[in-house]
Amino acid sequence: MKPPPTCAIMRDMIATNLASKLKEGLPAELAGFMKTAAELAAERGLSLYLVGGVVRDLLLGKPNFDLDLVVEGDAVALARELAGIKAAKITTHPRFKTAKLTWAGLSVDFTTARSESYEHPGALPTVTPGSLESDLFRRDFTINAMAVSLDAGRYGELIDHYGGQTDLAQRLIRVLHERSFTDDATRIWRALRYEQRLDFQLEEATLNWLKRDIVQLNTISGDRLRYELECVFREARPEKVLCRADELGVLQKLHPALRADAWLEDRFRLARKLTLPQPPSFALYLALLAYRLNGDECAELSTSLKLSKPVARVVHDAASLKAKIKALAYPEIKPSYVYRLLCGFSQSAVVAVSIAAASPVARQHLESYLHKLRYVKPALGGSDLIAMGVAPGPRVKELLERLRDARLNGEALSRQDEAALVKEWLTEAT
Ligand code: CTP
Repeated sequence: MKPPPTCAIMRDMIATNLASKLKEGLPAELAGFMKTAAELAAERGLSLYLVGGVVRDLLLGKPNFDLDLVVEGDAVALARELAGIKAAKITTHPRFKTAKLTWAGLSVDFTTARSESYEHPGALPTVTPGSLESDLFRRDFTINAMAVSLDAGRYGELIDHYGGQTDLAQRLIRVLHERSFTDDATRIWRALRYEQRLDFQLEEATLNWLKRDIVQLNTISGDRLRYELECVFREARPEKVLCRADELGVLQKLHPALRADAWLEDRFRLARKLTLPQPPSFALYLALLAYRLNGDECAELSTSLKLSKPVARVVHDAASLKAKIKALAYPEIKPSYVYRLLCGFSQSAVVAVSIAAASPVARQHLESYLHKLRYVKPALGGSDLIAMGVAPGPRVKELLERLRDARLNGEALSRQDEAALVKEWLTEAT
């Protein structure tokens, strides 16, 4: 699809200059780097622009240090020269004509200005080098389709062909054209993320096209859907995005049995409290989202999202642990029993169930397992038992487990207590 003719483009009426925002809104190292990059680009006769999310966030006054630079010309060659100057690490994707520089904990992406076309819905785009204008037109939403010129004579000048500033002011998420979600249905998830993160609304036509194209999510690979879900879980409040996705029927494209509601909102909030200062892991959030699915449904979700083995295990374990909650709902059960019920399960699954279980008693047992019981070990080891006359083999393992049970239940408090117990068991056995 070609960009509309210039006369039809909503040209920005007020020339906005973001030079001072660039200086104030970015760490000095990055602002300085952009100056160096702009000077080098000028020497090479190339035009250089800052684009995408960082421009949006500069205008919103939100911190964002993920710089995306677009070069009208060979971005990889320019990035290579800059990597030399900064002694930065460079990774390149010659096929997509992109490069990434990383140094001192910072990273900057370089892209060759390009236009994109899609052979069929769900396909990855075919990329052709182009102008900044076509590069902005390939983008998802007006608020992400603005650029800032870094050229010497125009440094800081905002380029806003599609009304991004107006949409920021009106708090709207708007696609650039009717086929945006058809071309790339992952933008449906992106739209919901921005809407909920920024507290914006989907513009009316955009919402209608989004609803029309929900079915196109069927064409997106498991890897790409999982990536979108990872992005959702990286939001400060992913539950807001999931609830909106549920309301629109987007969530059910991941699995028809998934639900996001007040129950999930509470569980996600609790998960964040529990894992502070870290955010919850992808596996923990996913186990909570999938908690109300049955075993078969969890397996279907794992396959369709192509989950890694460890993450699939957490989701599966959390679903299996639900069956143990009844047994854990009695206050008087012994710690050794709790241990044996839970010891084979992945830790994140136990955390998920401790957040999700309805029974307060079961939750207490799960927490006690997580914070205390799982660390309990006997003081004596296998070689101690053998020295005491136990025959090497399965008997050693069995006695070590009995010792751990005794420790858990407070029947052995020291190494001496353990040795006395072993002697007793050995005499009993003879
Ligand atoms: N983009 C797009 N369509 C996509 C993905 C990305 O048009 N499916 C464009 C958007 O212009 C976006 C830019 O590529 O701004 C960079 O993408 P990304 O890093 O995912 O998003 P940011 O805008 O940087 O936003 P954030 O990281 O804050 O979510």
